[in-house]
This record gives sequence, C-alpha cells and structure tokens, in this order.
Amino acid sequence: MASPFTVRRARASDVPAIESLVAPYVRRRILIGKERVAYYESIQEFEVAEVPGGELVGCGALHTLWEDLGEIRTLAVSERWLHHGVGHAILEQLQRDAVELGLKRLFCLTFEVDFFSGHGFHPIGETVVSPEVYAELVRSSDEGVAEFLELARVKPNTLGNTRMLKLLDAPPAVEIPS
Ligand SMILES: CC(C)(COP(=O)(O)OP(=O)(O)OC[C@H]1O[C@@H](n2cnc3c(N)ncnc32)[C@H](O)[C@@H]1OP(=O)(O)O)[C@@H](O)C(=O)NCCC(=O)NCCS
Repeated sequence: MASPFTVRRARASDVPAIESLVAPYVRRRILIGKERVAYYESIQEFEVAEVPGGELVGCGALHTLWEDLGEIRTLAVSERWLHHGVGHAILEQLQRDAVELGLKRLFCLTFEVDFFSGHGFHPIGETVVSPEVYAELVRSSDEGVAEFLELARVKPNTLGNTRMLKLLDAPPAVEIPS
C-alpha cells in the first residue's frame, strides 16, 4: 500500500503550519515554544510530513551542536495522526540528514522515552562533551543548547525529561563499479 504521507524538506512557507503542529505540545509544556522568526531562521533544519492535499501532519528538526553531535528537536505529530508511523518516518529522515552532515551522535531531550528507545537512543547521564567543547557551547544563545548543557536557568524547562543519545552508524560505503 502506498504511504498516505510523504516526508520532505520544509519550505519557508511551512512555518505557520509548523507552529500549529507544535502549539498543542507547547501548551502542555512538552515542547519549547519559539518566536516565529526563530522558525524562519532555522527552517533548513526541518523535515515535514505532508498528506495529499498539502496538509502538514508532522515536523521535526535536526540542530547541529558540534562537529560530531546533533540534536533531534521539535519532533511533533498532529494528534489525529499519532501512531501511524509519521514520527518514525520523520526521525528516519532526520537521521539520514545527520549522516549526510557527517554527524556521529544524536542527542534528544524527551518525555517519549519508549519511542526514542525503539529507534536506538539510550538514556544518558551527564553532558557527553569534553570540558573544552562545553566551554565553547556555553557561549551559544540557543535555548536548546542551554538545555543540552543543563544550565541552571533552563532547569524548569527540562524537569521530567530524559536525556538520550544515539550513536549513528557509518554511512554504507559507495561501491565504485569496476
Ligand atoms: C513522539 C511522537 C513524535 C511520535 O509520533 P508518532 O507519529 O505517533 O510515532 P510513530 O507512529 O512512528 O510511532 C509511535 C507508535 O505507534 C506505532 N505505530 C507506528 N505505525 C503504526 C501503525 N501503522 N499502526 C499502529 N501503530 C503504529 C509505533 O510502533 C510506535 O509504538 P511505540 O510507541 O510502542 O514505540 C509524538 O508522540 C509527538 O508528537 N509527541 C509530542 C512531542 C514530543 O515529545 N517530541 C519528542 C521530543 S522532540
């Protein structure tokens, strides 16, 4: 059976729909809300799931943290479409994007521990970067980076969330025809 939705890179014009997908989860303090301008600024990070007719039923973003490390963020599926494989398809695409970027590890901060465990993520304790990288990351003004570093000022946002990490497999070697 053909997939009832397709996953594609987001376009700038998708921002209002992405905001609508994220809003119910922001209200429930599951995801962090952002200003509209922040979505436009980071639109290249997003993949979206679209159904025939053009409605967006899911979105997710890959944020680069460091040379080998990325974060899955703002993964949100429309309530009507939960448990139809949309989250899985977007996460798979974001992982392909991460491999293409040369990332080796993916971080996420989530309440959806079973979903991410099922995709090869495992809970982690402390920050998984060296003190040198920490010292550089702490200069970022990005709220998600502050959460990754567990800075005191964002602690209320992260209560109850689980920090998870996945090691990405090396991309398959390209066979050169002889
Ligand atoms: C986490 C989230 C993105 C998952 O989205 P989803 O589209 O429901 O995910 P999937 O459908 O791929 O998988 C969810 C479950 O449905 C099951 N499923 C997938 N396709 C299915 C189908 N066709 N029929 C029945 N079940 C199905 C999966 O096996 C999975 O089961 P599990 O939870 O026991 O592992 C969604 O719950 C969400 O938006 N949560 C709020 C935001 C959030 O917490 N984001 C993560 C942090 S950024």
